[in-house]
Amino acid sequence: MNSFAPPQRQAPDAEMLFGFWYRALPSERVRHNRLQKAMLLEVPLVVGRDAQGHAFALRDACPHRGMPLSCGVFDGRQLECSYHGWKFDAHTGQCQLIPSLTADQKLRVDRIYAGAMACAESDDYIWVFVPEAAPPGAGATKASEPPVPAPRVPTFSDKYKLAYLSAEMPVNVDHGIIGLMDPAHGPFVHQAWWWRSRHSIHEKQKAFEPIPNGFRMSAHTPSSNSAPYKLLRLYAAADSITTTIDFVLPNLRSETIQAGKYWFSSLTTVTPITRNRCRIDVVAAWNIFRWLPFGPELLRFVFAKFVEQDRRTMELQAEGLKHDPHLMLIDDADRPAKWYFQLKQAYMDARRNGTEMCHPMAGPVTLKWRS
Ligand code: FES
Ligand SMILES: [Fe+2]
Repeated sequence: MNSFAPPQRQAPDAEMLFGFWYRALPSERVRHNRLQKAMLLEVPLVVGRDAQGHAFALRDACPHRGMPLSCGVFDGRQLECSYHGWKFDAHTGQCQLIPSLTADQKLRVDRIYAGAMACAESDDYIWVFVPEAAPPGAGATKASEPPVPAPRVPTFSDKYKLAYLSAEMPVNVDHGIIGLMDPAHGPFVHQAWWWRSRHSIHEKQKAFEPIPNGFRMSAHTPSSNSAPYKLLRLYAAADSITTTIDFVLPNLRSETIQAGKYWFSSLTTVTPITRNRCRIDVVAAWNIFRWLPFGPELLRFVFAKFVEQDRRTMELQAEGLKHDPHLMLIDDADRPAKWYFQLKQAYMDARRNGTEMCHPMAGPVTLKWRS
């Protein structure tokens, strides 16, 4: 390899990928008969729960004159717009009443739809399938059927505990995601006396392989300075512990650590809210510490600390990015970031050309870095 090759220029286009499931809100924020606003990929949404507790999501704009439906009245089944009182079925978005119509006016009310989106609830989150933008002039139609079910955090036993954390960051989704998969910032951003110092930095070598729509850091014994590893060592022999980390488009990072019958897993997403804002949501599941009084709190504390360190860093980074500086990606530490951009490009090319997506990785690759 030519060691004098200039580092590749990085140009995050902040392009947002439609046609995928995204985490909209933590479940507990959406109560019966109360409407909540949310924003995904610059699309304003109104999210609620029907009388049976099933979640729904609609574009937060009435198809009549654009009034936010979140300003309307919800009776547990139908949503009434606050401007002219049109009523919509909360799940399908189908219009069911236009109060201004007289008995002899034959407008087909049932052909009018508010923009309903497929909605699912898993792992303490409400997920919304954000479809490809409809062609101009198509108007609001029925919700499109998602090709796959909403993602879930990996679990490996019937009984387990679940916890989540959420933080908003003032950077575009690309910076959020490459920050998430960046191995080199650890010793500088995630320092703590109980955790690691920058002097613990050492050379690492990790094997990666392509998986559909993403890549995997192949199963290996975790870094001796990773948090769940330190905790799991209390339960199992160090060499029986393995971890696997996957990244899959559009924004899913899952990590699984197994030690015999004990396991810990997480599903982290970085969700584009607008072009310049994203939100990181971490859901962790585990079957360890069930009898340890401080286990879950300890874990939450460690994760909250990490997420806050990343959030603070990106808040500062946003200052530096304001005036559009030139940036770069270097080998090998930024190779996962390069793969991310290549995957995204390959996905968009395939969609535009109506072809199979061509995976940017030809086969397994070993990367080396110090962290
Ligand atoms: S704007 Fe909603 S009913 Fe007219
Ligand atoms: Fe981080």
